[in-house]
Formats: sequence, C-alpha cells, structure tokens
Amino acid sequence: MPLNIAVIASGDGSNFQAIVEKVHAGFLDVAVRVLICNRPGAGVIARAQAFGIPCVLLDHEDKSRFSDRVSFDQAMIEAIRQYGADWVVLAGYMRLLTPEFLNAFPDRVLNIHPTLLPSFPGLHGCADALAYGVKIAGATVHFVEEAVDSGPVIIQAAIPIAPGDTLGSITRRIHEIEHRIYPQALQWIATGRLTRMRDNSRTIVIHPAMHSRVYEESRCLISPPLEEGF
Ligand code: GRF
Repeated sequence: MPLNIAVIASGDGSNFQAIVEKVHAGFLDVAVRVLICNRPGAGVIARAQAFGIPCVLLDHEDKSRFSDRVSFDQAMIEAIRQYGADWVVLAGYMRLLTPEFLNAFPDRVLNIHPTLLPSFPGLHGCADALAYGVKIAGATVHFVEEAVDSGPVIIQAAIPIAPGDTLGSITRRIHEIEHRIYPQALQWIATGRLTRMRDNSRTIVIHPAMHSRVYEESRCLISPPLEEGF
C-alpha cells in the first residue's frame, strides 16, 4: 500500500514536481492524491495539471467562503479526506496551520524549510541566513508542530557558501538538494523505516534498509545520508 499524501503549496511547486517525478520513476511508494493550493495562478497548479493530479484551489483571501483561519483549514481537511490522503506534505505553503488542522492529522504533517533549523525559521529563512553572513546554508525536512518551523527533524542538508554566491545562486542549490531530501524522507516513512521516539525527546530514528547502498555526497553534507535513487 502506498503512502497516500496530499501536498499543500502556495508557489512555484518545484518540490511538488520533484516528489511526483520520484513516484513516476518508481523510487517512491507514495500516491499523490491531491494538490491543495491557496494562491490562484500559482505555478504549482499548472504542474499538477501537467501530471494529471487533482488540484483543489482554496483561496484564503476569499472572505465570502472563509471567515477565519479555522474555517479555511476545515475546508483543507475536508478536501484531503475526500481525496483519500492521510499524510500532509507542505511544499512551500506560506501560512501557519491551526491546531484544529494539526489535530486532524496527528504526527502526519511534514514540511521542508530552506535553512538548517532551528536557525532562521520563518518566511524568509534563506535570505535571513545570508544577511546574517552564515558560511553554511542548508535545508531541513521536519514534522510540523504548532510553533513555526519547530517540529522534530527528519533530514538535513548543509551547503557551503562560496565567495560570490548570491541569494539566487544559494536558493538554486538549496532547491536542488530539497528535491532529493524531501522524497527521501517520504520514502523512509512509506517503507516504515522512520520511528519517532515516544520518550518526549525529539529524536527521529531511520532504520537502515536491508539492501540499500548509501550514496556519498561530495558537494554537501546530508544526514542521514541519501540512499540509492535519491
Ligand atoms: C522551498 O524552498 C521550501 O523550502 C520552502 O518554500 C520553497 C518552495 O519552493 N518552504 P517550491 O514552490 O517547491 O519551488
């Protein structure tokens, strides 16, 4: 049985596409049941259409439908259930989720963030990191909890900043690595190889696969390491 996921996105959707492509390539035991998008005209909508994945557009600014965040999130919950998804994958979703939403999918909401959390949470993490002058940028896949960009970490990639790097060049490299670590994290979940410790720690354990070869990365540091296909 594949992992049935709903992707929620607000923007371009390159991470959405990376996940779908890994599914099509046969590396990811995931079924992308639906894309939910909250921004009319966002690039991710065309990507979903190109792959024939159902897209539900819920415009959070439509006050005739949504009087508050709870009613908006309730509409998302209904759409996710209607399409048979039980895991939620945030891929560039630029809004906070309500406790009501998180309670509907307990421990089943993931996010990707373009910094090494807990450094530089929030909407402009990558730009904030660069403005701070960090020498190592990165990306994090984590479980979602109520506080912004705060849940337990599943995988992180660290990317050295080179002289002459700009926000554009760093963003591009972060995106490249995001497109590998997010599908990898999903595959660990889909194959039952991720354990979230119940001892009040934030520890996530990834169990090694029987026959999986771990791939070395020379241009960046990824932990836990990526496996074949990612
Ligand atoms: C990514 O950099 C992700 O880390 C952040 O939003 C961006 C989404 O990019 N949460 P895309 O829409 O998937 O191209």
